[in-house]
Amino acid sequence: MTDRYAVIGNPIAQSKSPFIHTMFARACGQDLVYDKLECPLDGFSAAVEDFRAAGGRGLNVTAPFKLQALAIATRAQDAARQAGAANTLRFVDDGIEAENFDGLALVRDLVHNHACPIAGKRVLLLGAGGAVRGALRPMLAEGPARLVVVNRTIDKARAVVGELGHEPRAAWCGYAELGDERFDLVVDGTSASLHGELPPLGASAFAPGALAYEMVYGKGLTPFLALARRAGVVRLADGVGMLVEQAAEAFNWWRGVRPRTQPVIEALTVPLD
Ligand code: ATR
Repeated sequence: MTDRYAVIGNPIAQSKSPFIHTMFARACGQDLVYDKLECPLDGFSAAVEDFRAAGGRGLNVTAPFKLQALAIATRAQDAARQAGAANTLRFVDDGIEAENFDGLALVRDLVHNHACPIAGKRVLLLGAGGAVRGALRPMLAEGPARLVVVNRTIDKARAVVGELGHEPRAAWCGYAELGDERFDLVVDGTSASLHGELPPLGASAFAPGALAYEMVYGKGLTPFLALARRAGVVRLADGVGMLVEQAAEAFNWWRGVRPRTQPVIEALTVPLD
């Protein structure tokens, strides 16, 4: 029987995951089908069980179910536990395993696809929701000189940095407290651009030669990227590479084969302006 996989979320119509995994399967000669599952907001665990009973082998999980995905797992890998959320599930004989590849994918995209090593850099992460929570430890593992989490609600920034324990390189603050500090890498991990909004970031946050990275994918020149451009930043990127890299990690986890990501990134890239 052909193995079944899917992405589950609500809404899900916009998801590129079926396209990505179908391209991966074709390139790697893997026999699988990959669907979209729109799940009722109160029906996540039943939908997962139904999918499994119908021959499903694994799921990608997107908003708003990443926390529930971790909660229903019988075993969670470190990255999922530390992020407090899972973006990939794998069905095994004795249960459900949970992983979170989002942070690793961000690092891979920055370091390999954008040739932007994090080691020694001053990094600013905007936001303190699930996206930033998942990115923190993989970013720190790369050895930045300093990593600041800035958030509109300061208590949330304090909490996510506090979860790291003793970490002298990491700090948190509100936007007004950023002062004149400049950063080599500024990553927008907020949901502001999904609503066409701009986080209250000053243009002085970008150091000369900085890379401005928008985790959201496919929205063109978002208010954050437009701010960076006005500030003179020439290296701008959105999250298309992160999206494809997390899919490649999931594919590898399920199938034991890591597909090439570059052709799929090229196929999905939307111009930034
Ligand atoms: P996700 O899991 O995708 O990160 P989330 O947990 O809802 O989503 O977090 C969204 C993040 O975007 C939060 O940090 C939020 O700031 P608050 O904690 O202050 O709510 C941030 N965010 C959303 N809209 C924003 C805006 N217009 N300006 C600044 N930050 C914004």
